Amino acid sequence: MWLRLYCLLNLAVLVFCTDKYSREDFPPGFIFGINSLPLQNYWTCKAEGAANEDGRSPSVWDTFAHEGGCPTHGQNRVGCIQIFYLMVKTYPKWKRKYQIINPKGLLYYNILINELISHGIQAHVMLFHFDHPQALEDEYGGWVSRKIVKDFAYYADVCFREFGDRVACWTTLNGPNVDVLGGYDTGHLPPERCSPPFGLNCTKGNSSSEPYLVAHHLLLAHASTVRLYRENYQVMQDKQLGFIGLNFFVSWPIPLTNSTEDTIATRRALDFLIGLILNPLVFGDNPYAVKNNAGLRLPAFSDYESKQVKGAFDFLGLNHYSTDYVTDN
Ligand SMILES: *[C@@H]1O[C@H](CO)[C@@H](O)[C@H](O)[C@H]1NC(C)=O
Ligand SMILES: *[C@@H]1O[C@H](CO)[C@@H](O)[C@H](O)[C@H]1NC(C)=O
Ligand SMILES: *[C@@H]1O[C@H](CO)[C@@H](O)[C@H](O)[C@H]1NC(C)=O
Repeated sequence: MWLRLYCLLNLAVLVFCTDKYSREDFPPGFIFGINSLPLQNYWTCKAEGAANEDGRSPSVWDTFAHEGGCPTHGQNRVGCIQIFYLMVKTYPKWKRKYQIINPKGLLYYNILINELISHGIQAHVMLFHFDHPQALEDEYGGWVSRKIVKDFAYYADVCFREFGDRVACWTTLNGPNVDVLGGYDTGHLPPERCSPPFGLNCTKGNSSSEPYLVAHHLLLAHASTVRLYRENYQVMQDKQLGFIGLNFFVSWPIPLTNSTEDTIATRRALDFLIGLILNPLVFGDNPYAVKNNAGLRLPAFSDYESKQVKGAFDFLGLNHYSTDYVTDN
């Protein structure tokens, strides 16, 4: 119970300290955290280091940065996702793919996790932060393809097996709704897929259909990973102590005016921005407003998938940065 609370409170807390605060201003279970990331976005372009070392292969963010997409990009970046990169290094077709696990990647994270724990710091691991391997993007289009669902679960399985005895919280995906918008609708984030009139500068993609497809695959990957964790790891309560969930981007929409149009538009914005991910997790189905607008572009969940996705979380994390006014367009 306490651990569950810890997971919830840990995520994305930014305090701008202009005043005096002390530990006593926060509840006893409140956890303060700090994170270390691979190349992730415009603001943290340079993070963990050693991007090209020990056999690490590039992610879509490395490609993006090297093409000039990342204004302050440095030479050195790496992440937990490192293992994902290393596993999926391109291999001759006649050998079984996705079975290569780089021992140096495992060693790196084992040292990191052990070091944290030795200082009384809980290890919270996020498995995926927008940066899937470039190899998978090249091979089958990354998240546009359903093939990634199986590969993602395989990668997660390795992390659970190797680190699960010491990890308190597993976050499968960070802000899948941002991934969907930036990577496949506006196209300003890697893998830079979009089409006019929604995104103007992409060489590939389809802003009308791919965001829905990608959201669907992200949810399926998340759900199969959670089921895998629950069935194969969480049951071993003496050996595995973690909780699993995901977090998503929540800019809370409020109507710009009190007009009926803006009120309805706000409801719609909520369904498209948050409901697209949250509704299936809670109710096992896509939100009505999105189904109604997207029609066949939004893949339906089969009965089996719906059961997999519904309830696939021990905690939900909210990345909240701002509140947005919404007006009918
Ligand atoms: C497209 O690229 C041009 C030139 O780099 C840039 O000026 C423009 O803002 C971009 N448009 C969008 C929608 O990203
Ligand atoms: C995008 O996908 C939709 C639905 O499949 C299709 O009707 C449309 O022609 C596609 N647009 C582009 C730019 O490929
Ligand atoms: C909308 O109505 C509420 C309740 O009457 C009021 O408090 C609020 O200021 C109104 N907002 C706008 C933007 O007019």
